[in-house]
Order: sequence, then C-alpha cells, then structure tokens
Amino acid sequence: MKRALVLTGGGDCPGLNAVIRAIVKRAAQEKDWEVIGSIQAFNGVLWEPTEIRILDESAVAGIHYQGGTIIETTNKGGPFAWPIKNRDGEIETVDRSDELIRKLQFLGVEAVINIGGDGSQRISQALFEKGLNIIGVPKTIDNDLSATDATFGFQTAVQISTDAVDKLVTTAASHNRVLIVEVMGRDAGWIALHAAVGGGADICLIPEFPYDINVVLEKVNQRFKRDRGFCIIVIAEGAMPKDGQISLMEKEIQGFANARYGGVALALRQQLVAAGCTHDIRETVLGHLQRGGIPIAYDRVLATQYGVKAFEMILDKEYGRMVAYRHPDILSVPLTEAISTYNTVKESDYLVRAALGVGISFGER
Ligand code: F6P
Repeated sequence: MKRALVLTGGGDCPGLNAVIRAIVKRAAQEKDWEVIGSIQAFNGVLWEPTEIRILDESAVAGIHYQGGTIIETTNKGGPFAWPIKNRDGEIETVDRSDELIRKLQFLGVEAVINIGGDGSQRISQALFEKGLNIIGVPKTIDNDLSATDATFGFQTAVQISTDAVDKLVTTAASHNRVLIVEVMGRDAGWIALHAAVGGGADICLIPEFPYDINVVLEKVNQRFKRDRGFCIIVIAEGAMPKDGQISLMEKEIQGFANARYGGVALALRQQLVAAGCTHDIRETVLGHLQRGGIPIAYDRVLATQYGVKAFEMILDKEYGRMVAYRHPDILSVPLTEAISTYNTVKESDYLVRAALGVGISFGER
C-alpha cells in the first residue's frame, strides 16, 4: 500500500472537510493507496507519540457540509520554526524539518497534500526543496492567494458578512445610526468589498486604500438629513487611516502566535467622534463567525474539485505544485508562483469601479 498524508494548516476555513473527503474518495478508487491525516498540521507527525489518523471512506462519510476540519489545524509554528521554551522561559524556535522528513519516510508516506494558505504553502515549497513529494491546496477565507481565481471558504465568509450587513441595515435605519461592521482581511479587503457591494453598504474601508477620516465623515453626513438617516460602514480588520497604524489586539510572538488583528471598528468610531461626528455609532465585530459553520454550496463544489485534483496530481507525480482554479479549469501551478505575490484589491479591479458606481465610498477622496 502506498500512503498519502493529508494535513490542514493555518486558520480553519469552510470547505476543508470537503477537500479531505474528496481526496479520500478519489484515492479509494485506486487499489493501492491509503490516506492518513496528520492532526494539527505537521504537529501530528512531529509529536511524540505521533498523532496520525487513518482516513478511509467511513471516516469521511458525510463531512462535505461540516465546517472546521476533522484533522484539526494550527496557525502557530511549523517544522521550520518549532516553538520551544528555553531555560529563561522565553520562546525560541528550532528547525525540525529534517526530522519531519525522516519521520514521514518511517511512516511510509509517499506523498503529502498540504491544505493551507500562504504561510502553509511557503512551508510546502521549503519542504519540496528538501526533496519531499508535496502538493498544495489553497485555502483562505481572505482570498488573498495569487495564482488561483478563488479559494474555498471565501464565498461562505462573504455570505455570512453580507447577511450581517442585511441585518444591521434594519436596526441602523430604525435608530438612525451609523453601524460599523468589522470583517476579516489582514492584507486583502476582498471580504469587506464583496460584503459592502452585496449588502449595499455606504462606505467600505480596506487595507489597500488607506482612508481619510474627514472624507469618511463627509460621506456619513451625506447619509443623514439633520438627524434622520443611517449609514453602514464595512471595514476590514487590516484597514488603517492615512498616516495611521494597523489596529492590533496582540503582537506576533515568533513561532508561537500570529499577530492578532482587531479593534479597527472601535478605532474608527473614536476617529469619527474626534473628527466631529454627532450621530449615534455602534460597532459589530463578526470575527470567527465568518469562518465557522457549514460551507455554502459554491465552496463545497470548489473544495471537492480541489481534493480530487490534488490526489490526481499525486498519481501524475506533479510535486512542488499547487491546485488552482483558473476559470473554467482546475489545474496546477508551481508553488513558487502561488506564494510569490498576494492577491490584493487593485484600483483597476472592476468590482472597485462597480462599488464606486453605486456610490460606495472608500474614504479616499
Ligand atoms: O488568515 C485568515 C484569517 O481569517 C485572517 O483574516 C484573520 O486575521 C486571522 O485568520 C485570524 O486568525 P486566528 O484568530 O484564528 O488566529
């Protein structure tokens, strides 16, 4: 029996289980392949004792619509930066990549499928350079990976955010308020932009376009006639004012924890008040609601295609590559291409033009 090892790394994302199920079901059509899962990304292989799970058809039955990942995930550390505490109690990182490759050989793993975002695919590329047979599957609700038209989970996050905007419109209108909705998106404002257009928001603030608070206030005031009216602002967690700073809840601890974004809605409210806004303002932070729960059909379908393709790439020995969607095809691209640039919102994107065309302000001018 040949063994394929599957792992999920980085933040969870609706559709991960649909990918795992598709890999396992496609592998079951071959007589000589077995699929195993490493718990919490590569941790399951590196831990002593190891935590590996056999993924057969009964293990993945009916999981295509379940959120989360049945093999768990982590966005801390990894084989190249394994966190340990030194004698002084400080966090240090060590490189365990050689040990990982030895352990995979010992486990009889022929090929690895790493389902993850930008950080995970950087690890895939580095392990490929060390000789590991590895394939990447792109995952992120932020949709910030280049080389693919879409990542699964993104549309579910957009739907959840748009539903939230719809709900907030009715309460904002009833109370004549400004409602600020904070959504995820550290470097890319795709969720915010889609939710703003889909939900009919008035203002959309994203990391790519630093905003001028006076322009934001001007737009807010336009939405009110004296005290009557309401205004919906969608803001991505990585948005910041011109000459301002990103709003962080916690700083990064190398190898141990990523920087935690957040607080941008509250910061915007304070900036609006300081700039002279007299309207009543409330904030809603959607946070991890955007990543939880069942994936919408679009994401399950995309994830299933990614899973089948990933296993077929193993059969074709297409290592060092990542599954990608380039409409209308599902194909593979070199990992190096996948991690070379972020997919961020550009002024030239038609969706930006459409947003401006329906009167949405980016707070820029
Ligand atoms: O990378 C995806 C993402 O959803 C970011 O937009 C967000 O900042 C981050 O994950 C939050 O991750 P966590 O709180 O799980 O560490």
